Amino acid sequence: MPFPTDRPRRMRRTAALRRLVRETRLRPDDLIHPAFVREDLDAPREIPTMPGQHQETQDSLVRAVEDALRGGVAGVVLFGIPALKDAEGSEAWNDRGVVQTALRRLRSEFRDECVLIADCCLDEYTDHGHCGVLLADGRVDNDATLDLYARIAVSQAAAGADVIAPSGMMDGQVAAIRQALDDGGFAETAILAYSAKYASVMYGPFRDAADCAPKHGDRRGYQMDVANQREAVRETLLDIEEGADMVMVKPALTCLDVVARVRDATDLPLAAYCVSGEYAMLRAAAAAGAFEERAAVLEALTAIRRAGADMVITYHARQVARWLAEDRG
Ligand code: PBG
Repeated sequence: MPFPTDRPRRMRRTAALRRLVRETRLRPDDLIHPAFVREDLDAPREIPTMPGQHQETQDSLVRAVEDALRGGVAGVVLFGIPALKDAEGSEAWNDRGVVQTALRRLRSEFRDECVLIADCCLDEYTDHGHCGVLLADGRVDNDATLDLYARIAVSQAAAGADVIAPSGMMDGQVAAIRQALDDGGFAETAILAYSAKYASVMYGPFRDAADCAPKHGDRRGYQMDVANQREAVRETLLDIEEGADMVMVKPALTCLDVVARVRDATDLPLAAYCVSGEYAMLRAAAAAGAFEERAAVLEALTAIRRAGADMVITYHARQVARWLAEDRG
């Protein structure tokens, strides 16, 4: 009885053999850089819970995007932090608002070289920090919020966004935005739906970065329960029916099973968002000497791609692009 019957190690013998049979590759083209642009800021300000990441001014945003593009990063997703917040979040659809201004500027600086994705939500703009307008009892009013998302999307498309990315987890948001874009003459503007977005503790640092922690309650009434996997498929299929061009799972590292499951359910381009808390964990563990940051980040992002994501939104995008260029060089 011959034993072992097969020898998979044959194909692991040399680096060249391993490279030949590698199933998943990580390239800068698969990466998207998330950026925070803040009104009324004189100089970029580091985000304490996200070492190495900044709230950007309009000027420093241009430099950050230039750096990302130089490394081959495919695009940027923009989050705005307005000077004024109100109950409805009306700065979000101001044609001269912080994100609209940034979109115009980036479009004129970089033409079509950079995919410009606009996060479409209200939590950065409302004084209460929720992702929609509130009912008298403090819950988010789904259908009234849809009208506001539609206005935001149209103003972002008019300012030059290639892609609108609704992240509020309201029912019907993709359909409402698609309809508004089509009616507004923006049939060519795409939608990246945050289809399966969990109510995750991993968004902690983002809420510091964007100053958008809810002042009362939490987001469990609209974001998904972390205990659920099948529901992610249902949410994704609904978004596709409603007209999504691309779909997303978020967070990424704590949801690799969900990424794999959603991958099986659709052939549409699939994004995974390696979120602020995941970034912070990797940075903190590396700083504490637990491992080398570069190896840990490349392993984590490769795992997200292996699970089935076509593209990864990551705060490490610019850094990874540099690391990959060193490898090639
Ligand atoms: C909502 C939004 C959030 C993130 C992206 N879009 C915050 C939230 O839902 O509380 C989190 C991203 C991250 O943690 O990196 N507009």
